[in-house]
Amino acid sequence: MQVSLNLIENWLAEKTGILPERVGHELIRQAVVARMAENECEDVETYFSLLTSLDQEYDAFIAEVTVSETWFFRDEVPYQFLAEVVQQQWVQTKSLPCHVLSIPSSSGEEPYSIAIALSELGLDKKDYVIDAVDINREIIEKARKGIYRPHSFRGKDQKFLDRYFKKTEGEYHLIDAVKNRVNFSVGNVLQLDDLCIGRFYDIIFCRNLLIYYDHKTQLQVLKKIHHRLRPNGILFTGHAEANSSLNQYFTGVGPIGAFAFAKRNNVAEKFDAMPSRISNSNNKKVKNKKNRLENNVSLSLSDYQKRRYNEFRAPEMASKIEEVANSGDLGEANRLCQLVLSDSTDPEVYYVCGLVKEAEGASHRAEALFRMALKWNPEHYNALTHLAANLQSRGFSAEAKKIKQSVIRKFENNSDE
Ligand SMILES: C[S@@+](CC[C@H](N)C(=O)[O-])C[C@H]1O[C@@H](n2cnc3c(N)ncnc32)[C@H](O)[C@@H]1O
Repeated sequence: MQVSLNLIENWLAEKTGILPERVGHELIRQAVVARMAENECEDVETYFSLLTSLDQEYDAFIAEVTVSETWFFRDEVPYQFLAEVVQQQWVQTKSLPCHVLSIPSSSGEEPYSIAIALSELGLDKKDYVIDAVDINREIIEKARKGIYRPHSFRGKDQKFLDRYFKKTEGEYHLIDAVKNRVNFSVGNVLQLDDLCIGRFYDIIFCRNLLIYYDHKTQLQVLKKIHHRLRPNGILFTGHAEANSSLNQYFTGVGPIGAFAFAKRNNVAEKFDAMPSRISNSNNKKVKNKKNRLENNVSLSLSDYQKRRYNEFRAPEMASKIEEVANSGDLGEANRLCQLVLSDSTDPEVYYVCGLVKEAEGASHRAEALFRMALKWNPEHYNALTHLAANLQSRGFSAEAKKIKQSVIRKFENNSDE
């Protein structure tokens, strides 16, 4: 049985990206046993051929092994930040409609919370489009009904309940005006490009799925999401997903607890042409349009100084340092680097501090910091390309060439964009 179970676990990982150890071997074993009984299969091999040949069985098995835990306004801060960002970036600049994707949407609490948050801003149907996707067909059917039990409402703030739901015998029925604003479909995040042919988004919620993936699969999915986001786009992740896998494609924005990330727009550029994101003009205020959002929404310095730096805040701290450096205050940027470098394991922080040193003309120190970024994430694209440029400019052409070739091998040959 164990060998056959491994077969199913490997198949599951390949199809969905989900690592068996993250959902639990026991959950998978129980699902197989239950589905075998339902289908009157006597051995796992017979069940496996059923599973891999019948769409209906695939759906039933996926429903058993996926964790669909979710609730309205989960974590709260992301939705507050969403409202703030949509107001600033789309309403005030008259750039509506805003296109939002929620993947995975589970039973609908997340995309409907987005619809409610946008309705609360006074936006209506023509102002936004919300697409919602999940691999679990059963859960999508439930989402379309828009009927919930009290368990779906766990946040402190429940003022929205009276306005958007009709209560009947322990159930809450979402009003049609909100229900009609979300387009649900069944789909797999690993096939995001096929799902979204021709469609690009301003905001993508991809929360509490990447935790089930290994680093490589996380990067694959983040690359696809990066491609699907428009230039000013924002990604929202779950709190346990705001980790270093994101740094290659995104930079942290918004308040602590939003777990929001702006799209880095220089990822696809060739390293030779790639400008440093930090200017070396010490006394001139640099107006960096790309960082408009970060400048608008990032935390004040004093907030950072009050709280101890930790992993979750690392992306936000890195963008804060970058913002300060771009404002021309390299002294303050340096002071922040000293503050965080002593206990950081975040490659983005090392990388940004390397940029600060580069802007000061301290090439040796910059090299050391790019190497530290690579120690924590050997795949850090920007650290690799900047290290190559740093070495090249100092005459270490052979090593620079080696690094450039490895970048081409790692990132540019397997580009599917
Ligand atoms: C824990 S829920 C997260 C729901 C919501 N995003 C949230 O944070 O509350 C995880 C969902 O991921 C879905 N899922 C798992 N693998 C997937 C895949 N490869 N593509 C799309 N959805 C997937 C599951 O069906 C499940 O509904």
